[in-house]
Formats: sequence, structure tokens, C-alpha cells
Amino acid sequence: MSYNNIRLETDQDGIALVTVSRPEKLNALNRDTMAELADAFTRAREDAAIRALIITGAGEKAFVAGADIQELAVLSAVEARALALRGQAIFRMLETLPKPTAAAVNGFALGGGLELAMSCAIRVATPNAKFGQPEVKLGIVPGYGGTQRLPRLVGRGRAIDLLITGGTIDAAEAYRIGLVNYVTPLEELLPFCRGWVHKALANGPKAVALALEAVDVGLDCGIDEGLRFEAAAFGLTAATEDRNEGTRAFLEKRKAAFAGK
Ligand code: COA
Repeated sequence: MSYNNIRLETDQDGIALVTVSRPEKLNALNRDTMAELADAFTRAREDAAIRALIITGAGEKAFVAGADIQELAVLSAVEARALALRGQAIFRMLETLPKPTAAAVNGFALGGGLELAMSCAIRVATPNAKFGQPEVKLGIVPGYGGTQRLPRLVGRGRAIDLLITGGTIDAAEAYRIGLVNYVTPLEELLPFCRGWVHKALANGPKAVALALEAVDVGLDCGIDEGLRFEAAAFGLTAATEDRNEGTRAFLEKRKAAFAGK
């Protein structure tokens, strides 16, 4: 698939940079853009040469200013439900990618933009970034996971505050409530994200994938089931070459060289 609304560039270290690029519409997610993101996330899952993913928005004003309101305005009930299910599935693909993912939030992250950012493992923001779920101002509710991921990230009370006032918060407040992990100046945003990704990539890839999966599974089941999954994941690592290499390297006082097996 060739892309018109996003760019996918993979560097020599296997870090894929996905840039949503409709700057004249503040990178709003229309149908075509969502289809391209679905394709990019599928590639990121299936291509072993892609080891991590960073997602950002083109221009200096917006990460993504939401789903495309022009398209939303004319949907029937059946079409709107189908659109939400499709968008949820695409973002879930990103959320469950067994590789490190980071949202580089360089401006407005509203509605579907915040939902996209929340589907990444971490969020890094520039000081001018703005976050919110303003859907209620349009007489609709979030459809790409906002009502579910926001309370999981920042807690019920803070999520409800944002969800029913439709208000926006700046990067400092987003950092304070745990919605973003780091705040950096714009010129350092992508280098910082790449640095973070490199830290994760220096570790055992199978272990990183299992840690991501354990958090994902555990947040949606009870503690007992979550702990059972963790024990099984821990057991599985004992069958990997990476466990042997990682523990041996420590005991031999050298840096581990993981093969991802
Ligand atoms: N969907 C479709 N178009 C959008 C959009 C969206 N979510 N967000 C911005 N745009 C378009 C604007 O319509 C405008 O297009 P135009 O130049 O053809 O009129 C262009 O992007 C620039 O936006 P504009 O509103 O002029 O910029 P601004 O700096 O005055 O305001 C925002 C920026 C983000 C506050 C404002 O664009 C906004 O509120 N966007 C909608 C946010 C939202 O409700 N998102 C959730 C959608 S479910």
C-alpha cells in the first residue's frame, strides 16, 4: 500500500517513525488515514526488521487534532458504530504490538489524537502540547477507546473530569497526572524518543514483549489471573536463549548480546 496521509520511515536501527501528515487539517484522522495507519501497524507487527515504533504528527502545531469531524458529521448510527469498531481494532493493534512504542506528541492531541497517543506504550510531549477528549462538545462520545484507556492511565476521577467537561490540559498538567511520561523541547522530541526506544531495545526482546503483554493482560483481569500470566511469562523466559545470555553476561560482568530467541 502506498501512503498519502502518513509517512513510514525505518532507520538503520529498525526504529520505524510513523508521521501522520495532513497538516492543513491538523493531522485529523479521516478514513484514508486510518486505513494507512492499519497498514503501517500490520507491517510493524509482521516485519521483524521493524523493532520499535514512534508515532508523531507533521508540522509544529498538532500531533493529531482528532477524528475527521467532516466525516463524522454525516454518519448513520450503523456507520458510526462500524467506524468506532474499526478504529478501536486499529488502535488495539498498536497497543498490543510486542515491541516498544512511543507517541511523540508535538502539539494538539485531541479526541482520536489522544486515543492514538494512549495506545502507545509511552507518551512524550513538547511543552506546547494540549490534551483532551472534546467529543462531548460535538454531542458525541469518544469512539476509539478514550473512555476506556483514559481512566486506566489517569484514574476514574481525572478521566471523567476530562471526558465530560471536554476541557483540555497542557503538557505540564498531563505530566502531573501521569498522562505523559516525559516533557521535552520540540527539537529534542524525536531524539529523546529514539533514546528511550534504544534503552528498551538493549534488553531481551522476548522479555520486553512479555512484559508488555503481562501489563496488558493484567490490567483487564483480576490479580490472581494476572499473577498466573506473569508466572507463565516468567517460565517462558526460562526457555529462551536471551535468559541464558542475560544471566550469564551479568555473572561474567559483561554486556549482554541478545539474539531475541
Ligand atoms: N477534523 C476535521 N478538521 C479539523 C479537525 C478535525 N478534528 N481539527 C482541525 N481541523 C481543520 C479545521 O477545520 C481547519 O480547516 P480549514 O482551514 O479548512 O477550515 C484546519 O484544520 C485548522 O484548524 P483551525 O480550527 O482553524 O485551527 P485553530 O488553531 O483555530 O484551532 C483546534 C485548533 C485544535 C483548537 C481546533 O481545530 C479544534 O477544536 N479542532 C477539533 C478538535 C476536536 O474536537 N477533536 C475531536 C474530534 S472527535
